[in-house]
Amino acid sequence: MNKLNKIWNKPVNIADQMVLVGIFLAFLYWALESFLNVFSPEEVSFYRQLFGPNVSEMWMRLIVLCLFLIFGSHVRFTINKREKAEAALRESYRKLQNARMATILGLAKLAEYRDEGTGTHLERIREYARILAQELANSPRYRSIITRDFIDDIYQSSILHDIGKVGIPDAVLLKPEKLTDEEFAIIKRHTLLGGDAIKAIESQIEGQSFLKMGRDIAYNHHEKWDGSGYPAGLSGENIPLAARIVALADVYDALTTERFYKRAYTHEKSRQIIVDLKSTHFDPEIVNVFLRLEAKFDEIREELLKVETGWIELPAHTLGGQLESGAN
Ligand SMILES: [Fe+2]
Ligand SMILES: [Fe+2]
Repeated sequence: MNKLNKIWNKPVNIADQMVLVGIFLAFLYWALESFLNVFSPEEVSFYRQLFGPNVSEMWMRLIVLCLFLIFGSHVRFTINKREKAEAALRESYRKLQNARMATILGLAKLAEYRDEGTGTHLERIREYARILAQELANSPRYRSIITRDFIDDIYQSSILHDIGKVGIPDAVLLKPEKLTDEEFAIIKRHTLLGGDAIKAIESQIEGQSFLKMGRDIAYNHHEKWDGSGYPAGLSGENIPLAARIVALADVYDALTTERFYKRAYTHEKSRQIIVDLKSTHFDPEIVNVFLRLEAKFDEIREELLKVETGWIELPAHTLGGQLESGAN
């Protein structure tokens, strides 16, 4: 009975529907011919030419029915083959995507490793960025901008935001004390180094929209809504949307996790800091979206912190440091 239920509830695809319709029409044709009990004289001579002079009308009907059935199963067979080829293509595309994602994550982790250890900062950032983008897509203002592709792209490219840190010397990047102005100027360069590196890759590969978004994010994730950020001092909607989203995700993560220069703040305290920075550091609409999603942020953080594999032991540090200087 269970098996029957399963078969009955199985969704019928278009190919199956076509075959069922074909079989139904074949039976209808056969039934009509039987009911009327005649083939027209032209049909009879046509079938006799085809199947021989002694073939009876009953055989003609059976042969025609068989031809319908053979045609139907041939259609099904062809469609089956096409569906299998499509499934194989989809599977290899999926594997390619996964390999690409793993490679990007590996490279991005190399850049993060020096100052953020072996944690899951990047995995958290991409989850935060994705849910923010998904929720923003519900607003009429962003519905046409935040497409399925935008969400896929931000998931992949957000992890490249700090890739430019590879070009910052240890003495500055890992300095526990407050940075001098000169040192902070060096730290700021990670946005340009990262953006330029992605731009160089982009020029070698065509049609990879996540790289264009990755470049926007790397260049602009430290810009602030009121224009007081870096490197270009862009303000408001002049800051690319993806960078505005990642800016909030990155700061939330920096606040709620332990860094070598600070201890972790609670979700509540971090939430309050973000609210206080609404319309100065952050796009006010993105802060509103964050507030709607805050329970999910808390959940993702807790889940991903559980799977962290280790932590580099670095000197004890005071609060503030680079975060307050804006180098998260
Ligand atoms: Fe950064
Ligand atoms: Fe970061």
